[in-house]
Amino acid sequence: QINEAEVAEFSVPTYACQRRTTLENHNAVLTDALSLLAEHAELSDEDGRGVAFRRAAAVLKALPKPVTSVKQLRGLPCLGDHSLRIIKDILENRESSEVQSTKQSERFKALKVLTGIFGVGAKTADRWIRDGINNLQQLQDSGQTLNRAQQAGLQHYDHLSQPVTKQEADAIGEIVEEAVASVLPGARITLIGGFRRGKLTGHDVDFLITHPEEGREVGLMPKVVSWLESKGFLLYQKTTRNSYLESKDGPARPASNMDRFERCFSIFKLPEEEKPAAKHPETLTGNVEQSLPLTSSHVSAEGEALKRWRAVRVDLVVSPISQFAFALLGWTGSKLFERELRRWAGHEKAMSLSSHALYDNKQVETHFVQTPSVKKKRVSKKTKTCSSMMT
Ligand code: CTP
Ligand code: MN
Ligand code: MN
Ligand code: MN
Repeated sequence: QINEAEVAEFSVPTYACQRRTTLENHNAVLTDALSLLAEHAELSDEDGRGVAFRRAAAVLKALPKPVTSVKQLRGLPCLGDHSLRIIKDILENRESSEVQSTKQSERFKALKVLTGIFGVGAKTADRWIRDGINNLQQLQDSGQTLNRAQQAGLQHYDHLSQPVTKQEADAIGEIVEEAVASVLPGARITLIGGFRRGKLTGHDVDFLITHPEEGREVGLMPKVVSWLESKGFLLYQKTTRNSYLESKDGPARPASNMDRFERCFSIFKLPEEEKPAAKHPETLTGNVEQSLPLTSSHVSAEGEALKRWRAVRVDLVVSPISQFAFALLGWTGSKLFERELRRWAGHEKAMSLSSHALYDNKQVETHFVQTPSVKKKRVSKKTKTCSSMMT
């Protein structure tokens, strides 16, 4: 052990959640390759392999300088034979044949295009590919029945495949803020997901909504959605109600990683700013548009002024204040970080962490909600272990 530590060039803790994380990646060539293989595995319904590649990529991301030889990686955690082979290939031959052939495979390209449609997962894409559908045109020509989400996803495909900028995230934040303040004064919104981690772009924008008084948040989401709809800000939305307290035995364990908060998966219609002065979307809905520089793309055949806008995926989650800390932690991501945090809690601390609570497995009858606003400890039956959350 001591000898190994002496040869090891880098030292990285076992669990991703124990590492300092940085947006600075000195090994992007390697992590891009491993992430691509992870994505391919996930799209092929091989989640175990996907996690293995994600873990390997995360270890390389944590290194303080570029790797030049696999020898430097001795003793590092999470680097399995397969990942090491890929890394070695790239270090020695500048590229990995497996990564190249995966990237160029028709199946992978088709999976990426089809799952790039909002509402389409790996299973649906696989079914379509088996039916001979490999791209958007073939999907449209096929006459496949699409659900409401997929229809909206296909309709706004181009916009939704463009990364969302922080500036756009902030603009949406202002709209959500106004919606929430209008329907429940005192309610607060917090930017979560990738933007909370400091990312400069994202595939969507995520917000957590709560109210400092426990219980006031009940019924909030439909009101927020109605407000947004009445102002024309929503192209699509699907609200799922809170199911955390549904089971009569008290909070039950979700069957999967999914939490049980009231949530809304939506597609926003974000007005695009034409000039610096037009800050608030409302100013674009009045007569102000006359003063905007109108190009041909702003004017329909009838000569009616059209406003420029862009579709953006937005996730809204509502949590009671008593669970806010857990919700915030659980929704900040990244997905691997959350997974590792739960695995660490389970394996090393004998605790079960979710976006709702932290359970001490040794005191199975007690359900801790460590928030000042909850005076009494709630008691719940811990019916089963959450192994699905900790794999
Ligand atoms: N999340 C979750 N349950 C879901 C979806 C997401 O708990 N059904 C959590 C994820 O674990 C993640 C966070 O919400 O921590 C944000 O998820 P997502 O928006 O998918 O990813 P981001 O990290 O925000 O990355 P991106 O920029 O691609 O949106
Ligand atoms: Mn996100
Ligand atoms: Mn999201
Ligand atoms: Mn495990």
